[in-house]
Amino acid sequence: MGKLYAIFFSATDTTRKCVAAFCQGYGAKPVTAINLADSLNSKLPDFSSEDVVVVASPVYGGRLPKPVAEAFARLKGNNAAAVAIVVYGNRDYDDALLELTDILRAESFRIAGAGAFIGQHSIFPKVGKSRPDQSDLQALESFGKECKAKIRDGFDPDCTPFIKGKRPYKKAAGAPLWPSAKESDCVKCGTCASNCPVGAISGDKPFATDTTKCISCGRCISVCPIGVRKHSGVKYSLVGFLFNAAFSKRKEPEWVVAR
Ligand SMILES: Cc1cc2nc3c(=O)[nH]c(=O)nc-3n(C[C@H](O)[C@H](O)[C@H](O)COP(=O)(O)O)c2cc1C
Ligand code: SF4
Ligand code: SF4
Repeated sequence: MGKLYAIFFSATDTTRKCVAAFCQGYGAKPVTAINLADSLNSKLPDFSSEDVVVVASPVYGGRLPKPVAEAFARLKGNNAAAVAIVVYGNRDYDDALLELTDILRAESFRIAGAGAFIGQHSIFPKVGKSRPDQSDLQALESFGKECKAKIRDGFDPDCTPFIKGKRPYKKAAGAPLWPSAKESDCVKCGTCASNCPVGAISGDKPFATDTTKCISCGRCISVCPIGVRKHSGVKYSLVGFLFNAAFSKRKEPEWVVAR
């Protein structure tokens, strides 16, 4: 078998944890692991038909985040095996896994497996709190083992099991909630500005957010060393209350492997 690669976007680390657990079960360390949240323009590797590529993304509004789908569209499969993973915050993954496998197939990857796993919701963290947990990580390891066996023994890329979702996909819609900090609390260290994947925070006013660019990924909140960047306001509290009430019932991982 060829080399293992991991290409993913993870703003608040849950997708990265899921990819790591998959690789643990698969029994190999990726020769290259790229978190596109560090740079959406990262140079992407060239693959051969022997290689195995884990491609993973969080779900935003039931879809792939737009800049992430655009970055994945630069991949060239060259007939490598791919494993598609989406991570969602216990609401639903809707069309995101179908969208990801469609992108990978169009780029000449052979899909060996596809799965949807749960991570703490990055806007409403009470939903899916502390996930992926032990049971999620075990599920990812099992998925990794199953994919390894399937790729070793051979699979039919034209015989793909059912993947939930509809075409045309649901309309992509951003979350109208954007984090920021109070100017008086912010020490202007610039950590949030240098870590924002879409350049929505300026170096001179890092407490503010350019809402025309922000994708609400939550990375600035998680990297702020003094914890002053956050969601706040009446709208956030109200939507959060309703969201927690509607989506707190635990969802479980789902995955399929090729035949
Ligand atoms: C803008 C935005 C939209 C989201 N939409 C959904 C969604 O449609 N369904 C869902 O269950 N979770 C949704 N989530 C939650 C994320 O999919 C989840 O928290 C994921 O684990 C984040 O991955 P990361 O930690 O790797 O960045 C959304 C999060 C954000 C920031
Ligand atoms: S400003 Fe928006 S896009 Fe940038 S890191 Fe913060 S939440 Fe993400
Ligand atoms: S990381 Fe926090 S303290 Fe530093 S500039 Fe951003 S909001 Fe201000």
